[in-house]
Amino acid sequence: MSEPIDVRDRDLYAPEQLPVAAPYRADIEGVVLPRGEIEDRVAALADEIATHYADGSAGIHALCVLKGAMRFFTDLLDRLETPHPISEGAIRASRYGMDTSGGEAEIEFLQPEAIAGKDVLVIEDIVDEGHTLQAILDEIQAMRPNSVEVAVLLDKPARRVTEIDARFRGFVIPDEFVVGYGLDYAEQYRDLRHLAVLDPSIYGD
Ligand code: PRP
Repeated sequence: MSEPIDVRDRDLYAPEQLPVAAPYRADIEGVVLPRGEIEDRVAALADEIATHYADGSAGIHALCVLKGAMRFFTDLLDRLETPHPISEGAIRASRYGMDTSGGEAEIEFLQPEAIAGKDVLVIEDIVDEGHTLQAILDEIQAMRPNSVEVAVLLDKPARRVTEIDARFRGFVIPDEFVVGYGLDYAEQYRDLRHLAVLDPSIYGD
């Protein structure tokens, strides 16, 4: 199992150094993770996950935490090759709406009946305070899975309130508001290719 790649002390790439869509260039301070680095790390995580389940599985149920994890989920499953069948499910989870302060985690399982007896792999884009993932894990445990593991692309430990045990972690990132590769601010920037730091003037800090 590899350690996550720690990019907390890394300088940002300037927007003009990478292919950043024109409407977003002025809105970001810079790029933390270029898309290519994300894709390579996702491929490595897929290999680790395949190895983890290599010795046997009751059937893997991969759960996408909507909407931020959609790209990570798709890219990860694209690369994941195991000898076991994989079913796909989704959870709607939302704490952050049109501002940057989180509220109560609202969670809805789209196929709760698919979880019992399965090896559940929760696929999440970011763990920030940790409330969302903790609430999800509490609900899954009550549904009697065979096992539960977490794959999270981005770990932002600076604001952690609830300790989270994620076996598969992509990157440790600084305490900045990041968008792109599925992550949004007010439903924008999910389609930005790279993971970028949003300019604080956009969200009014
Ligand atoms: C984001 C992200 C995580 C959660 C992490 O979701 O996708 O699910 O916040 O925050 P926490 O660790 O502080 O609880 P968001 O509420 O923005 O919904 P979205 O995925 O639909 O954008």
